[in-house]
Amino acid sequence: MFETLEDYPVDPIMIGADYFAQDPRTDKLNLTVGIYQDAQGKTPVLQAVKAAEQRLVDTQLTKSYVALTGDPDYCALLGQAILGDTWGADWVAAQTAGGAVALRVMADLLAQMPKAPSVWLQTPTYGNYIPILTAAGARFSQVPYYDPIRRAITFDQMLDGLAAAKSGDVFLMQGICHNPTGADMTVEQFDALLDLLEARGIVPWIDLAYLGFAQSFEADCAMARKIAARFPECIVCVTLSKSFGIYRDRAGALFVKTRAADRERMHRAISAIVRSGASHAPDHGPSVVRTILQDPELKTLWLQELDQMRARVAQVRADIVQTEMQAFSSQALGYLASQSGMFSLLPLTESQETALTRDHGIHVVKGGRVNVARLGTEDIGWLIRAAKTVMSTP
Ligand SMILES: Cc1ncc(COP(=O)(O)O)c(C=O)c1O
Repeated sequence: MFETLEDYPVDPIMIGADYFAQDPRTDKLNLTVGIYQDAQGKTPVLQAVKAAEQRLVDTQLTKSYVALTGDPDYCALLGQAILGDTWGADWVAAQTAGGAVALRVMADLLAQMPKAPSVWLQTPTYGNYIPILTAAGARFSQVPYYDPIRRAITFDQMLDGLAAAKSGDVFLMQGICHNPTGADMTVEQFDALLDLLEARGIVPWIDLAYLGFAQSFEADCAMARKIAARFPECIVCVTLSKSFGIYRDRAGALFVKTRAADRERMHRAISAIVRSGASHAPDHGPSVVRTILQDPELKTLWLQELDQMRARVAQVRADIVQTEMQAFSSQALGYLASQSGMFSLLPLTESQETALTRDHGIHVVKGGRVNVARLGTEDIGWLIRAAKTVMSTP
């Protein structure tokens, strides 16, 4: 029977890890990874997480199921932390297994609506959006977001592209540390985008994956809060994988702001979709997050550790730019300093990207995404030299 099984595409990030493992060279560098790494190349468990886990081991009395929409305390603490004053009774919330499941539940819900809206996506954007929307059977279209060769956001083209969106369609954007470009809209651009969405009746859907990696947890929530303050209907997905370093523990959430008359139906719809899909969310990661957010001491410790991760990523970006200027008298990668988060795109053509791996042992995600958090001090010169060499040949 399985002879007829189709050949499924492999995620470029997962395949990047395979190619790296198969590369027989010892002097090779894997910049494809999607996680934070410290200067030693480790992704440590945060001390705040360790302390919260110990507390859970000592005090947790049951491991029975949580509700289909998860633990209301977790949802409320997280909603309050992210949405601030804009959090309240007008939100329907669900605890999910990471951000991917929050996205999938919402994609299912949109696809199942009687008049299914189109979801508008930025190009390039997080590589799992299209597989998630496709698996859900949701309709989607794309607008240009960033030009890697010009190293700039294509803001006007994005707005022009949205001219084809209809009232009731949904625009899926990232809240901070845009993956894979590292390029976030300016405040003015973001305000202009919201003006357009509001005027055209397009519903904003914001995905938050790197809170705390740009300026601070509080400051990085600004885009989500602005949307929440302005729109009677909007969608927020969040993953805590990166901000708490609990990737495998799968903590995330879906928040949907609705009009009062629609709230009960929204809650039932989300519960039904969760039940038939991932079913009850895992609770260890979310319980760790809840324990940290509830305890002022643990929260302070976590925010300090998050700030250290943010500072390291910013330092690596600054070091790349400074080393390039001092040792190579060039500024081809100067744009990296004004971007944020772990990821950026190298301004490479397809053949230059191939040469970077073939000739210099540097592995990047297809399209040129690099994880700057993977770079140790000794790797920076290697990357700059290799990038400059491949860029000198068209
Ligand atoms: C923009 C974005 N959204 C969502 C996710 C999914 O997060 P998780 O792995 O926690 O499901 C990621 C993960 O890399 C991401 O970069």
